Amino acid sequence: MAVRYENFVSVGPGSLAGRYLRMFWQPVYISERLAVGRPAPVRILDENFTLYRGEGGSAHVVAPHCPHRGLTLAVGRVVGDNIECFYHGWTFSGRGQCLAQPTENPGYADKVRIASYPVCERYGLIFAYLGEGAAPDFPELDIYDGAGLVQNRASFRPWAFFAQIENGVDETHFNFVHRRSKFDDIGMNATMPTLSCEETDYGMLRTATRGDSVRKGHFLMPNWSLSSKYEHDEGWTNHVVWRVPVGDNSHISFMADTTSKTGADADAYRLAQDGKKKRRAALAPAIETVQQILAGALHADDIAPDHPDIIMIQDGVACMGQKAHRDRGEDLLGASDRQVSMVRRLWNRELTALRDGGALKQWRVPQGLTTTRGV
Ligand code: FES
Ligand SMILES: [Fe+2]
Repeated sequence: MAVRYENFVSVGPGSLAGRYLRMFWQPVYISERLAVGRPAPVRILDENFTLYRGEGGSAHVVAPHCPHRGLTLAVGRVVGDNIECFYHGWTFSGRGQCLAQPTENPGYADKVRIASYPVCERYGLIFAYLGEGAAPDFPELDIYDGAGLVQNRASFRPWAFFAQIENGVDETHFNFVHRRSKFDDIGMNATMPTLSCEETDYGMLRTATRGDSVRKGHFLMPNWSLSSKYEHDEGWTNHVVWRVPVGDNSHISFMADTTSKTGADADAYRLAQDGKKKRRAALAPAIETVQQILAGALHADDIAPDHPDIIMIQDGVACMGQKAHRDRGEDLLGASDRQVSMVRRLWNRELTALRDGGALKQWRVPQGLTTTRGV
């Protein structure tokens, strides 16, 4: 009999999955990209926000529009730690209080507030708490303690965050989707893995065994993961990624990968990263290539295995090519899907509890979470 799943994909305000995701800190931007004086419009969870960095250095997330006559605040000016609307100068603090209305009578400003949200910066990313009530403690991951390098990327992808999460915990897809890729170099595609998984305090521990090597990674509720990632030239990193919905069928993968490389090794790593950036800039954008493949104009196997975005293109074909609005309960899952199945069960259990007013599990990230590469 088909399983009945809640809707994991609709994320707007009021949707069940959207309400659940809003109960956790979510990354919204890369820290170093947000300069003082340059506010940014941000769309996350099917909702718009204004992000800016005050002159004191702190980042703030407030409502998207000025309550006077609705101009987007993202074109405003940063004055001190406040944001001034471009249209008629109404000025708001990072906590949403209207502080000045140059064209109005005194006393009016005190009565005007806009929405504002708690913000913190960690691992090179700006996180916001977009839910109701007080923000929960930030889930600290100690692999960053003493890390040599943190590498951030924000990659927009026009497919549902949940498809990407499922792909991320689907170990057998390596042997097919990434058959022609850098994973060949390290023998990861040679053997079919045996899979296991277990629910943990933070989500799911998953292992994939190939011969006598074990690859161990973590899925953290509700939408992030820690695993080992291999790249041409750069070698292995700790791959930490949040899959943050933009809309129902789009998301940004926010990455904060880290490696313990220092000194000359770190320099070589940076050089490899720069080289990859240059090669990427000379090629068609990865998403365009995915779209061409899905339109039949190219085949995934036409892409050179050393393309800097080969893995993302291949994953993009696998995720974007899925029937987007299908009922997941109709999928014919098997033993190779046990990790995907567990993620669905965890999500379904929590969404059902949220819908019915039941108790939600309080996820906790323990100290010392590590991965093994398994090759
Ligand atoms: S619309 Fe913002 S001050 Fe008038
Ligand atoms: Fe993949």
